[in-house]
Amino acid sequence: MKPVEVKQDIYWVGAIDWDIRDFHGYSTKKGTTYNSYLVVDDKVTLFDTVKHGFAGELLHRVHGVIDPAKIDYLVLNHMEMDHTGSILEVVEAIKPEKIFVSTMGFKSLQAHFPTDDWPIQKVKSGDQVSLGSRSVSFVETRMLHWPDNMFSYIPEDKLLISSDAFGHHWATSERFDDEVDASELMSHCAKYYANILMLYAPHLRKLFAALGEMNLDIDTIAPDHGVIWRSDPGKILAAYERWCNQHFSQKALVVYDTMWHSTEMMAKAVANGIMEQGVSVKLMNLAVNHRSDVVQELLEARALVLGSPTLNNGILPRMGDFLTYAKGLKPSNKIGAAFGSYGWSGEAVKILTGALQEMKVEIVDDGIRHQFVPDHDALRACRELGVKVGQAVKASA
Ligand code: FEO
Repeated sequence: MKPVEVKQDIYWVGAIDWDIRDFHGYSTKKGTTYNSYLVVDDKVTLFDTVKHGFAGELLHRVHGVIDPAKIDYLVLNHMEMDHTGSILEVVEAIKPEKIFVSTMGFKSLQAHFPTDDWPIQKVKSGDQVSLGSRSVSFVETRMLHWPDNMFSYIPEDKLLISSDAFGHHWATSERFDDEVDASELMSHCAKYYANILMLYAPHLRKLFAALGEMNLDIDTIAPDHGVIWRSDPGKILAAYERWCNQHFSQKALVVYDTMWHSTEMMAKAVANGIMEQGVSVKLMNLAVNHRSDVVQELLEARALVLGSPTLNNGILPRMGDFLTYAKGLKPSNKIGAAFGSYGWSGEAVKILTGALQEMKVEIVDDGIRHQFVPDHDALRACRELGVKVGQAVKASA
């Protein structure tokens, strides 16, 4: 459990959580890390802490550099418990001279912990604190993804400590972007953005505009989850700009659940029609795909087509789960339609179409509902629905 040098006198001292598999509904199949950074200067400063249960790992890594009691300042960029769950133990160990938090962070911190005798100093965007040979500038990043988030920027080291932004859930022994597989890294980043930040795209667009005005010189981005961007920070910045500006691929997503395979047959026919138009399609059965993986695919898809049979005048429960989750993430500028098999009442297509409309999805077809098992004519109609979706995707490019 050694610290890892990020830059001269700056160390990663966080913790690796190999076992976590669920992050409030987001499937973290490959674990995560909780990153903390230690800056050794006249004022020794720790940026962020770790989840409950990992304080020992953090403090052990700090010991590899310096006695934790010699830490002067603690900066808390965000109060969610994956970064503050260990704070009582950490504050007790280091007894900081000052704890820096954003104004909103102060409120969050008070609502979580007994802070009355803590030496808290509130900071806002533009405030600077000297550490000795270097300084820290704070940039509030409200709603990315809590009201309290902020960045800490160290200009002398061209280092941006970015809290949750630009991070990803992936437990690795490697600490830097150039040490891991590049395509897997970007896939984890896309999943993280889709599941944590997609709904805050308007805030991100404003942040990028503000960062452009600040003209920060950045050569390293150190997020609070995953590897550190030391070789190519521009790559994750460019990806975020693309995602928050909703540059979609010519791609459609067909998401369905099925009871006795009739809706599955319809889903495959819809997908075939989309493919015939030369549009990329992904068929995702909710019985075997986790909601957070579906949302990742939704990130760059132009079309969302939903299928469910009718169950008890409603839809299948896994589709209900997916819709609850996806609606909250506010995917925008999509087109879509719905389909499904039914036995006697057949409300599912209407419910799915209504859910798409609630998500402000542009409906390109009234949808197809078919009683019991689809015959050739029904499957032909589903294929034609797919053709219509594919044409709409191409027309919107
Ligand atoms: Fe990684 Fe919002 O906490």
